[in-house]
Amino acid sequence: MTDSNSDIGLIGLAVMGQNLALNIADHGFKISVFNRTFSKTQNFLDKLHNNVPNLTGYQTLKSFVASLKQPKKIIVMVQAGYATDAVIKSLIPLLEKGDIIIDGGNAKWTDTITREKILKEKGLLFVGSGVSGGEEGARFGPSLMPGGSREAWSLIKPIWDSISAKVDPKTGKPLSGASPGNPISGGEPCSAFIGNDGAGHYVKMVHNGIEYGDMQMICEAYHLMNSVVGLEPNEIGDIFNNWNQGELDSFLIEITGDILKQKDPRTQKPFVDIVLDAAGQKGTGKWTSVNALDMGVPAPTVSEAVFARCLSAIKKQRVEASKILLGPRVEKCNINKDELIAAIRDALYCSKICSYAQGFQLMREAQSEYDWSLNFGEIAKIWRGGCIIRAAFLQKISDAFEGKPNLANLLLDEYFQKTINQYQSNWRKVIGIAVDHGISIPTFSSALSYYDGYRSTRLPQNLLQAQRDYFGAHTYERTDEERGKFFHIDWLHPNRPEQKK
Ligand code: 6PG
Repeated sequence: MTDSNSDIGLIGLAVMGQNLALNIADHGFKISVFNRTFSKTQNFLDKLHNNVPNLTGYQTLKSFVASLKQPKKIIVMVQAGYATDAVIKSLIPLLEKGDIIIDGGNAKWTDTITREKILKEKGLLFVGSGVSGGEEGARFGPSLMPGGSREAWSLIKPIWDSISAKVDPKTGKPLSGASPGNPISGGEPCSAFIGNDGAGHYVKMVHNGIEYGDMQMICEAYHLMNSVVGLEPNEIGDIFNNWNQGELDSFLIEITGDILKQKDPRTQKPFVDIVLDAAGQKGTGKWTSVNALDMGVPAPTVSEAVFARCLSAIKKQRVEASKILLGPRVEKCNINKDELIAAIRDALYCSKICSYAQGFQLMREAQSEYDWSLNFGEIAKIWRGGCIIRAAFLQKISDAFEGKPNLANLLLDEYFQKTINQYQSNWRKVIGIAVDHGISIPTFSSALSYYDGYRSTRLPQNLLQAQRDYFGAHTYERTDEERGKFFHIDWLHPNRPEQKK
C-alpha cells in the first residue's frame, strides 16, 4: 500500500523531465516520478544516490498515481503529439473528478484546446504549460507559461511560482546562482497564468518563433563580421561579449560569445568552423509562421528565420549552385572597421525590435481569434528570466505595455520609436553593404521592410487591387469613397484586343 503523500507527480524522465523533477524537489515539494520504461527511472534514481529524499520513483502507473495527494497533480513531460495523448489516455481511468493533468511539453496550442475540452467533460482539470529554458532552465528555474483551467492554476500556483526563474524586482534582471539543493529564494517569479485552454502553449509557441528570429539575426551579424569585416570567430566572440554589456544584454548574445570562443576539442579549430551549416528545427517556428499566415498578421521576420533554416538545410544544392550562380565581385569594404561593427550592432537591435513587434502583434490578434485576454506587460515580464529569449530589453517591452495595455504595435512606443530613429541610418547602411557583398540577411532586411511598410501611408497595393480586378473582377475600394464599399470597372484590355468583351 502506497502512502498518498506526494504533492505532485511527473511522467517522462528524459532530461527535461528529470531536471524539472529535481527542481521541484529542491523547492521542498514531495514529488513522485514515473517513466514508461522502468530502467530509465531506476537509472535516474541510482544517479541521485538517495540524496533527494523528496523524490520517489514508481514502477507502475497505478502505484505512481496512488502516491499522490488529492487532488492529484500530474505533470506530463513526454514528446508532444501522440505520446502525450497516449499518457493522458492511460491516466484517465486512474483519476477522479477534480484531479489535474499538466502538459509541460511543446504542444501545439490547438491540441491543448482539444485536450482541455475532452478532459473537462470527464471532470478532470487540464493545464497546458509552456516551459522554456532548456535543460538548465528546467533544473534551476524556467520561465513558465501556464494556460487552461483557472481552478487548476490556483492549486499549482505555489509550485509553479517557486520553481520558476526569478528576477530582481528593482533591475528586472534574472537572479542567478542556484545550485543542486540550493534554489534561488526571493525575487519576482517568471510564471503567470496566461489564459484559458491553449493560451499558455500559444504564447510559448510565439516565444519560440521570436527565438528563431533572434537566433537568425545573431547569425546574420556573425556572418557580416566574419565575411565583410574579416574577423575570426574568437574576435567576434569578444564583440558579442561586449554587446552583452549593453542594450543587447541577453542569454542568446551571451551564449553566442561563449560559442564563438570555443575550440573544437578534436582539431583545436574554432568550433563554429567545424559545425555543418545545415539547421534543424522541431516545428514551433513553423507553427508560428503558419499561424501568422492563417490570421493574416504580418510576421515576416519570424517566417524568414524559418525559411533561412530551410535554405541552409539544402546544403548540397547550395554547393552546386555556388559553382554556377554569380554574385557581386566586391573588393574590401572601405568603411572603418569599428564603425561597421557598431552599425551591425545597431542593425541587430533595430531588427530585434521589429521582430518582437511582430510577435506581440500576433498574440494581440490571437486573443480575439481564441477569446483570450492576454496581458502583454506580464508576458514580457515572465520572459525576463529563465527562458531562451530572456533579455534586458524585455523590461522595456513590459514598461511599454504596462503604460498602454492596448498599444497596437511596439513600434509606436516612445522608447522604441526613439531607438529606431537613432539607429536606423546604420541599419540601412548595413543592409546596403550586405546587398553589395551578396550576403544573405533575410531577417535584417525583412525587419527593415516591415518597418518601412508599417510607417507608409501609401503602399503599392493600389496597383495590386487593380490587377486583381482586371483579371478576376475581384473588385477594389476607392480612395474617394468610404472603406468597405467595393467597385469593379469593365476593363478595356488595350494591350490584349482579342480579349475585349
Ligand atoms: C525553450 C526552447 C525549446 C526548444 C528549442 C529547440 O524555450 O526552451 O524553445 O522549447 O525545444 O528551442 O527548438 P528547435 O529544435 O525547433 O530549434
